[in-house]
Amino acid sequence: MDYFNYKRKVLFAEDTGIGALAEKYGTPLYVYSKRTFVEHYHKICAAFSDLDTLVCYSVKANSNGAILKEMRAQGSGFDIVSGGELFRVLEIGADPKKIVYAGVGKTSEEIKYALKSNILMFNIESVEELKAINRIAGAAGKKADVALRINPDVDALTHHYVNTGKKESKFGIDINFALGIYKSAKKMKNINIKGVDMHIGSQITTPIPYLNAVGKIAQFVSGLNREGIKIEYLNIGGGLGIIYNEEKPATAEVFAKAVKPYIAGFGLKIILEPGRFIIGNAGILVTKVIYNKKGRSKNFVIVDAGMNDLIRPALYGSFHKIIPENFKSAAKLSPCDVVGPICESADFLGKDRMLPELASGALLAVRSTGAYGMSMASNYNSRPRAAEVMVDGSKHRLIRERETYEDLVAKEKF
Ligand code: LLP
Repeated sequence: MDYFNYKRKVLFAEDTGIGALAEKYGTPLYVYSKRTFVEHYHKICAAFSDLDTLVCYSVKANSNGAILKEMRAQGSGFDIVSGGELFRVLEIGADPKKIVYAGVGKTSEEIKYALKSNILMFNIESVEELKAINRIAGAAGKKADVALRINPDVDALTHHYVNTGKKESKFGIDINFALGIYKSAKKMKNINIKGVDMHIGSQITTPIPYLNAVGKIAQFVSGLNREGIKIEYLNIGGGLGIIYNEEKPATAEVFAKAVKPYIAGFGLKIILEPGRFIIGNAGILVTKVIYNKKGRSKNFVIVDAGMNDLIRPALYGSFHKIIPENFKSAAKLSPCDVVGPICESADFLGKDRMLPELASGALLAVRSTGAYGMSMASNYNSRPRAAEVMVDGSKHRLIRERETYEDLVAKEKF
């Protein structure tokens, strides 16, 4: 569900025409619909409203400060994975007691920074990290609040690059070793055990992997209780899938109904870390046709957005719907590859798409690019990164300026 719709055959974000935005700010341009992501945030809150729940929006999905600020205004907390993300959320005035910090490679500097910032807790991913946090907290005269991220050895049934809860994955602490590690954590002077954490992967469309994981985690929590290790929070991560094409992901409600029987009985505070579910369908990437090129076996529509703007098709073979901004003079549809200007064969946005003939200058929208679009963008081929605009009804504002050529070299020393 989103608020990108055609009105009289031209594309709108809420009540704002996409054509006018492209004219004003140029292309490639990320356009976000505030109503879409705010509604998704409240959908997930509502699904868990009968439990004491903290939703921590996963900053990596889209870390634009204006979006983070809106999320904060709605009451959201934040799931972070780096000092940079911590800086961002503190910049927009996030409540540190609504920040949870995951990641397998937290450096000493990052740990110090998070301790100084008084975040809610670290989600610890290894014994070495636990020891480092204990040591650094001691040196700072602090006690670190922590959860251990448990790897439950469950297949999230998703793309193998975003499957994070199997025993061969680098994430989390093997469920078979975790109890022993909690026992040693309990003895550490500068560690305060707060919770149990899991995150099994991303773009998960059925509740089944969650049920497998949450079932194992629930048993694990019972084991902790038997050992007298008290926890206050159960963090079941993010990963809820969205519709890119023909998927039929479980709704937040269905997902919540499925997992609650496993987790409700403990009386714990629940943390959720959705990223894509909130922001994925709230963004489109608007791009302009540069040339049409008729090949011997394929026709190419060459556009001004490339894999540096949206790497998901190249990296994961992801499918994003591509639609014309304007259907007014729609000729008959014919197959084409929509490709960018970058010197790589992986630089495509869509293959074998049925689109009307598009003259140079025509606009296309690449849908469902709110999550892991701009946040994974790069300057490859020395391409300045795109501008970003947030739409709110018939109002809009620029939330990130397009980079300039000067920006590209600003940090370089010739
Ligand atoms: N929590 C943790 C610890 C995570 O590592 C992630 C995502 C999330 C929450 C949020 O997951 P979400 O609800 O957005 O699925 N670049 C990939 C996705 C990578 C996900 C990384 N971790 C993509 O474009 O599909």
